[in-house]
Amino acid sequence: MISLKGVNKYFDTFHALKDINLDIEPGQVVVVLGPSGSGKSTLCRTINRLETIEEGHITIDGVALPEEGKALAQLRSDVGMVFQQFNLFPHLTIKDNITLAPIKVRKLSKTETDSLAMELLERVGIAQQADKYPAQLSGGQQQRVAIARALAMKPKIMLFDEPTSALDPEMVNEVLDVMGDLAQEGMTMLCVTHEMGFARKAADRIIFMADGAILEDSDPESFFNNPQTERAKDFLGKILAH
Ligand SMILES: Nc1ncnc2c1ncn2[C@@H]1O[C@H](COP(=O)(O)OP(=O)(O)OP(=O)(O)O)[C@@H](O)[C@H]1O
Ligand SMILES: [Mg+2]
Repeated sequence: MISLKGVNKYFDTFHALKDINLDIEPGQVVVVLGPSGSGKSTLCRTINRLETIEEGHITIDGVALPEEGKALAQLRSDVGMVFQQFNLFPHLTIKDNITLAPIKVRKLSKTETDSLAMELLERVGIAQQADKYPAQLSGGQQQRVAIARALAMKPKIMLFDEPTSALDPEMVNEVLDVMGDLAQEGMTMLCVTHEMGFARKAADRIIFMADGAILEDSDPESFFNNPQTERAKDFLGKILAH
């Protein structure tokens, strides 16, 4: 589904991604772990070309990442992304937040997008909020809208970059539940998260990054019970200690 080969990314002289090789199969749920500054967000951002790369190849369904223009807009709609900050449009209702891009990019009619929006809001459990504005919703509800908005473009893969880190603790689970459901339904997903319960339960595969490189790539069971590198042992020691 997604393939990165020999990907290197620099910010000036700083080597942010080091020879990344990663193939994600359709339906696979990959959780990316690693200390702060290890390049997790940069990896996500290169996959939908919010960041350019200096070396290597990224393909989605066998098609190389386009440079710009229409093809890039199409690619962006194939890759759904959910960030720590929800980035909803404050002046649009929940429903209009979801229908905006499908109307513009997918050229769907208002009737089609309205029923799509309601179906998605139903799926993330907030259909009754459709006519409200983002500020009237809790953080957990807003993040679920952000997920529904990404799904409205019928993406081939969903990227999540710490989607629960900005939420109050009591709202974390409602978002993780939606992500877990998506995983169950067979969505291909790449998730950066510090939620180890989710990683253990939902991931097919754990990628551990440090200093811009992938140090471990294994199943959750092996990673959590038998990490191979000192960096991963150290990381797990720190996060599992409290
Ligand atoms: N636009 C930029 N310009 C220069 N350096 C950057 C830029 N974006 C990221 N970096 C650097 O690249 C490295 C990786 O950053 P990145 O945000 O990908 O880390 P991360 O693993 O997502 O960290 P965190 O867990 O804190 O979110 C960091 O050292 C960061 O300072
Ligand atoms: Mg990050």
